Amino acid sequence: MGVAADALRLRLTRAIRPDIGDEVDSHLHSWLLEKAGRLHRERAPELDAILGTRCGDSQQTLSSRLTDAGFEPTWRKVDMVHDLNTPRPTDAPTPPELVIVPFETRYDERTWRAHNDAYAASPSAAVLDRESWQQHATGLSSFLPGASFVAVTPEDDVAAFVLTVRDTDDDRRNDAVLECVGTRVAWRRRGLARTLVAEALRACRTNGFERVRLQADSANSAAIELYVKLGFIETGRGYSVLTRRLKASGNT
Ligand SMILES: CC(C)(COP(=O)(O)OP(=O)(O)OC[C@H]1O[C@@H](n2cnc3c(N)ncnc32)[C@H](O)[C@@H]1OP(=O)(O)O)[C@@H](O)C(=O)NCCC(=O)NCCS
Repeated sequence: MGVAADALRLRLTRAIRPDIGDEVDSHLHSWLLEKAGRLHRERAPELDAILGTRCGDSQQTLSSRLTDAGFEPTWRKVDMVHDLNTPRPTDAPTPPELVIVPFETRYDERTWRAHNDAYAASPSAAVLDRESWQQHATGLSSFLPGASFVAVTPEDDVAAFVLTVRDTDDDRRNDAVLECVGTRVAWRRRGLARTLVAEALRACRTNGFERVRLQADSANSAAIELYVKLGFIETGRGYSVLTRRLKASGNT
């Protein structure tokens, strides 16, 4: 993954058939660690290396192996779902000077700026440049403008937003995904996120979706409380990212 903060970053990724036995799994784990050590020695022995890997909430054996190998949890994503057949969440009163409208292309740049402002203090969120913003939501072929909403100020700026995409997983054709939700600091705790997400849920239901999914940082208690209030529940399909540092000598 390149060099950042004077450390070589290596991502360990594994995909394994569920019917493969534990012996192969264990062997693959050891091989990956050995390969990471070798890459470190070959590519940047003068730097520390940081190994990063994902572990699903249900992968108990892998979690123990990673802990035994010196990996520590860095952050965790909670996976949540809202069943659109359950009763509709009620709207919160919102500031009367704001208007909530479906997303339109003319709001794209203002939404991008609002996004970077809203997420500025979030440790795991990147500040997006124009190009990465396009890949983030509104430029994706899966983007659902009719199920995405912005709260617009009297100055025609964006105070808060929710951006929704179609789930691209073949097994989840009837699912939509809340890609990002944010409220600029000055407008927080006034019911905007709650109203915007409720609007998005309504639009998804009208468009024939059955479920709406999302992932949130487990440390983001504000967001998790918001989603629970709106009827989202945890699926148990979240994951943690664990990291381990290898010292500059190149020795694991
Ligand atoms: C999370 C966020 C979108 C909430 O926006 P908001 O417009 O302030 O939220 P609302 O006013 O609609 O709040 C609705 C409910 O969410 C919960 N909530 C919102 N902010 C909260 C906070 N700081 N602490 C605890 N609960 C909070 C509360 O239950 C709140 O209801 P209440 O005000 O009646 O108690 C906003 O804080 C934000 O933009 N954060 C940074 C970006 C982010 O983390 N997005 C979510 C990524 S998954």
